[in-house]
Amino acid sequence: MDSIPGNRRFWNQISSTYQREHDPQIGAAPRLWGTYAIPDAQLHALGEVAGRRVLELGCGAGQWSRVLAAEGAAVVGLDLSEAQLAAAARARGAARYPLVQGAAEQLPFAADSFDLVFCDYGGLSWAPPHLAVPEAARVLRRGGRLVFNVASPWFEACYDEAAGRATTTLHQDYFGLNTIAEGDGATSYQLTYGDWIRVLRGAGLVIDDLIEPRPAPTTPNGYNPTDPPDWAHRWPAEMLWLTHKP
Ligand SMILES: C[S@@+](CC[C@H](N)C(=O)[O-])C[C@H]1O[C@@H](n2cnc3c(N)ncnc32)[C@H](O)[C@@H]1O
Repeated sequence: MDSIPGNRRFWNQISSTYQREHDPQIGAAPRLWGTYAIPDAQLHALGEVAGRRVLELGCGAGQWSRVLAAEGAAVVGLDLSEAQLAAAARARGAARYPLVQGAAEQLPFAADSFDLVFCDYGGLSWAPPHLAVPEAARVLRRGGRLVFNVASPWFEACYDEAAGRATTTLHQDYFGLNTIAEGDGATSYQLTYGDWIRVLRGAGLVIDDLIEPRPAPTTPNGYNPTDPPDWAHRWPAEMLWLTHKP
């Protein structure tokens, strides 16, 4: 629970700069995954949402939520940061889905409330997975799905903090990634592949797939430069987990 105040403060501080820099990419078209903006139409991760109860964990400015609401889902956008929620409220337009302030570690929803819980670099990147995954599983109904995209341990291990880019050299230990200091008191989280599997299965979820999104060689990373530029075409930069509650 320790990272809740620091992460809330951090996202409140950076929200306007973040949206100015990244909304043009992540909001450019419906259903774009991750730092390479790969269309869901290509990855087939989320599926049909019309008529489904959907929770976005860490919705930011709601680029995903407003699209799913417009597709006919009963979406709730949850986020820790009031500045991010204000950005989502401003961008909601006609799709007036509910926005809720809360933490992925302690969801303010009853058990069995949702058909789909998902995020893209949201609550499962910024909350301890051993707390956030069981919470997501709790609020899912039987047969409901948890789908989420996070950075890969490859990317984290190859990230050169000093140069601010992913390279072909190992800079961090794979074992012991765990908590990643993001500056200004903020923390993000990463697990080994084995630990992700254990946390998901420990929460009673069935793993249906692990998609490793692969951008075209020329697709830029909208967040972190890489050396070489086609890094993510050659190694997996992200992990898109598809799971369900049996
Ligand atoms: C990178 S954004 C993800 C939203 C959107 N997909 C995007 O890429 O901008 C991360 C979001 O997670 C939120 N967040 C951070 N810690 C959180 C927590 N513990 N629970 C829920 N949301 C959290 C932040 O406020 C921020 O809006």
